[in-house]
Formats: sequence, C-alpha cells, structure tokens
Amino acid sequence: MANDRESFSEKLRVPESLTFDDVLLRPKESRVEPDAADTGTHVSRNVELQVPVLSAAMDTVTESEMAIAMAREGGLGVLHRNLSVGDMVAEIERVKRADELIIRDVVTASPDQTVREVDEMMGEAGVSGAPVVDDSGVPEGQRDDGGAVGGEVLGIISGTDIRPFLEVGESDEVREAMTDEVITAPEDVSPREALELMYEHKIERVPIVDEGDRLVGLITMQGILQRREYDSAARDGEGSLRVGAAVGPFEADRAAAADDAGADVLFIDCAHAHNLDVIESARTIKEEVAADVVVGNVGTREAAEAVVDFADGIKVGIGPGSICTTRVVTGAGMPQISAVAQVADVAALEGVPVIADGGIRYSGDAIKAIAAGADAVMLGSYFAGTDEAPGRVVTMNGKKYKQYRGMGSVGAMQSGGGERYLKDVEEDDDMVPEGVEAATPYKGTLASELHQLVGGMRSGMGYVGAETIPEFKDRAEFVRVSQAGQHEGHPHDVVITDEAPNYSPDGS
Ligand code: XMP
Repeated sequence: MANDRESFSEKLRVPESLTFDDVLLRPKESRVEPDAADTGTHVSRNVELQVPVLSAAMDTVTESEMAIAMAREGGLGVLHRNLSVGDMVAEIERVKRADELIIRDVVTASPDQTVREVDEMMGEAGVSGAPVVDDSGVPEGQRDDGGAVGGEVLGIISGTDIRPFLEVGESDEVREAMTDEVITAPEDVSPREALELMYEHKIERVPIVDEGDRLVGLITMQGILQRREYDSAARDGEGSLRVGAAVGPFEADRAAAADDAGADVLFIDCAHAHNLDVIESARTIKEEVAADVVVGNVGTREAAEAVVDFADGIKVGIGPGSICTTRVVTGAGMPQISAVAQVADVAALEGVPVIADGGIRYSGDAIKAIAAGADAVMLGSYFAGTDEAPGRVVTMNGKKYKQYRGMGSVGAMQSGGGERYLKDVEEDDDMVPEGVEAATPYKGTLASELHQLVGGMRSGMGYVGAETIPEFKDRAEFVRVSQAGQHEGHPHDVVITDEAPNYSPDGS
C-alpha cells in the first residue's frame, strides 16, 4: 500500500448487523401474567407514557385526530410537518383542547331571546342546554363565537325547560323559561367536586364563573365521564392530552411556534441526524424551547455520542421503514435491531430514552426493539390503515385500503417534506425520492390495533418474566434465528382460513 489507509479488502471484514427477523427472545422462567405487565416508560427525559408506542410523523398517519386517539390510549401521536406553521399550531391546540374539563367555547343564551330562537340555536350547535348570560357588558365582536363568555350568568336553560308541554310558549322570553337558581363553580374546581355538585343537584352541566359571577366556561357530566374512560391517557400537568410535533432540523420558527402552542415533545425530523449542521441547529433549538427535544434519526454509536449531551431522547432508524427506499437509493442504512442496541448502549449511560422508529410489522418486532434497548417504538404502516389516520378509505378489487406514503416519496416532498432528506426541492425534476407512495389495508379503529400491539408486547414480557419495561430490558436475551427458523416461526404447511387480528403473512 502507498499509504497507511486500510486495504479495500480489509473493508470487507464487516461486523454483523441484525434486524427483527434475525433474532428471537429467549423464553425464561416467569411468574408474570401478560395482564400484569406494566408497559409504563419514558419517551423523553420529562415525558412518561403508560403505553410505549408513538404514531409516526407522516402526513398519512398523524394529524390531530390520530394524536388525540393515541394520547387517550396512553401513547403519543407526533404531528407531521407537511403543514403550515399556523395549521400545525391549530392541530396542537385541537389536541390540547380535546379532553379539556372546562369547555371554553360555550353556547350561551341571552335573557331577551325567544324560546324558539334558543331552541333552534341549541339544535344547530348540538347541545341540550345553555347558560343564560347578560351580554350587555360583552363587546359586540365577542358575543357570537364562543357565546357571551365574560358576561354575568343569570340562569341556565335546557331542553326540559322549553318543551311544549310545559307552561312556556315559543315566543316567550328566555328569562321566563330559564332556571334562575343556577349552580356554578370556580375555575379551579376538580372533576370530583364538579361531579359531586351535579349528583347533589341532579344537573348535567355547571357553568364556571369568576369572582364577579362572569361566565368563564362550562363543565358537563358527559365530559367528566368521557375522561374517566381513558384511565391510562397521556396527560400533561394540566390534564390536557400530550402531543408531539415534528420540526425540520433548520426550522427554528416552527419549533418556537409548536413550543408556544404547548407541544410536549418536539421531534427533530431528519433522515440523517448525524449531519453536523443538523446537530448544531438541533442544539440551538433545544436551548430555545421549553418542550423536550428528541433528536433523530440516527443508527450508530457515534451518532448517539454526538447528540446525547443535549437530546432529551434519541430516535433510531436509518431505512427500516415499510415505505422507505433510503437503503436501495443511497446504499446506506443500518439493520434496525443492531442500530437500536448501538444507540441504547450510549443513551442508557446518560438516562436518555431511545425510540425505535420504523420496520415494525408485528407486536413481536416491537417488543424485540425494546429488548434491544429502546424505551418506546414508533410505527407508521401499522396505524396508517386506521380510521384516525388522515385520508379516506378506497376500495380496490373489493378490498378496502387507505393511502400510505413515505415522507421522502415524490408526493410527500411536493407537499413540503424534502428537508427531512436534507434536500432543497424546487422542481419535480430535482427530486431524488427515498420513499414510495402506497396503500395499506383498512383496519378499523386505532384502539383495536393498539390493543393487539400492546397485548402482544405484554405477552412478550411474560415469556421473559419481566413485570416492567426496565426489568424487561435487563432480563431479555436474544437467540439468533436461521432462515429455517424464521420459516418455522410463521404459520406453515397450512392454508389460513380466517384472518387473525394480529397476523398477516406480509405484516400488513
Ligand atoms: P414503518 O415501517 O412503521 O416506518 O411504516 C415508519 C417510519 O419510516 C420513516 N420514513 C421514511 N423513511 N423514506 C425513508 O427512508 C421515506 O420516505 C420515509 N417516510 C417515513 C419514518 O422514520 C417513519 O416513522
């Protein structure tokens, strides 16, 4: 050799890198029943989840509807960033308001409206009762949208006050039909106190007022009971649902806006976060926001070392995704189980959570990712076919599908996704896509998909004898699987007659 560079042949002495199908969890002695397994985890330094699952920041996977459903079920939805900054802020606000105890956009009635007017108004708004408010002190422009919030509460009127069999006529004024002994509560009332008030007075809604008896909002019994249904929901300190937001590596303005709007975790959304310009910019973003900042995607030990000092979480995945063509287009990538383990070796020493992003087809893959060191998993294709994902259901050859596309596909880049791939895409001809546009089978509700996913993960914890995620990460061991072993692990030598809710041969 002319210099001391290693020989080209040396380069071919390569380390082995593994992915999901290459390994299985070694079964161990156990007393853990799957239902007793606790899946609580950290997704970032300051954000805990009961369910270690995130929905991908993709424009065919996560907008506010998905994020609301994910958080109610205990996981986290990460809003994609093919949205204007204004639209993303509106989406964050929608998630934050979704389970708010106090409704702020209250439909109100004024005492001199007629009973007929109020009946029609309540019908149109889909509510069965309204506080009656003296709106004379409320500025004109504020009276319509959100009613007369800010006016003094004089009474409350409901459907039962104005039904024709009672002694009021349609043209009577509301002041004659309303209940004027109205039960109100202050803004800091707890859900339990509000419910007790409702039971005691046999009412279904309580107007919330300030010290001057002016209307601030409304609490309904339906709202309280709905919140109770979601007992493992991911909520912030104020009880609102948690939400994540993807921001481009150089999008400081989007990061600031998402942070101000209340996003709990910002995800630096880049296909190759071991780019030094990306790291510098991510570091600056982290210094400027209150939200946790997860940095990704990375796939090696060195990349983890480069970000672990400032990241609140590290996301792993270079090309494992179902719609990704990064590995075939660029020749670069890391099989996902090895990538997760390399990153987790570094992150665990600093207490920084790791998220395994992409390539998960079955619940078994998800729990293998956790065994390899991840604290949570992110999925795209698994959720893209659910009702809560954006887009409509289409029928092809009698089967139902929803659209699912890579954020590096032509269509997604035309909608603004190029920066993830560090590409400045002005013209269609400039595009070198790293993803495809596809369809995925329609699957019904997110709740049922997540139930299968998390149920399978819990069972995996049972096979290893671990009650918690940290214990599972310690106890889990892998065995290497041959191709024959992989074949053995799927249904074989039979014809499947009925679809299982958690298995299809191609993982869709
Ligand atoms: P799954 O396998 O769950 O993967 O569908 C979702 C993850 O894939 C990543 N992603 C892409 N990767 N080209 C890529 O190489 C793309 O066009 C693309 N779009 C999404 C992303 O990390 C996502 O969470």
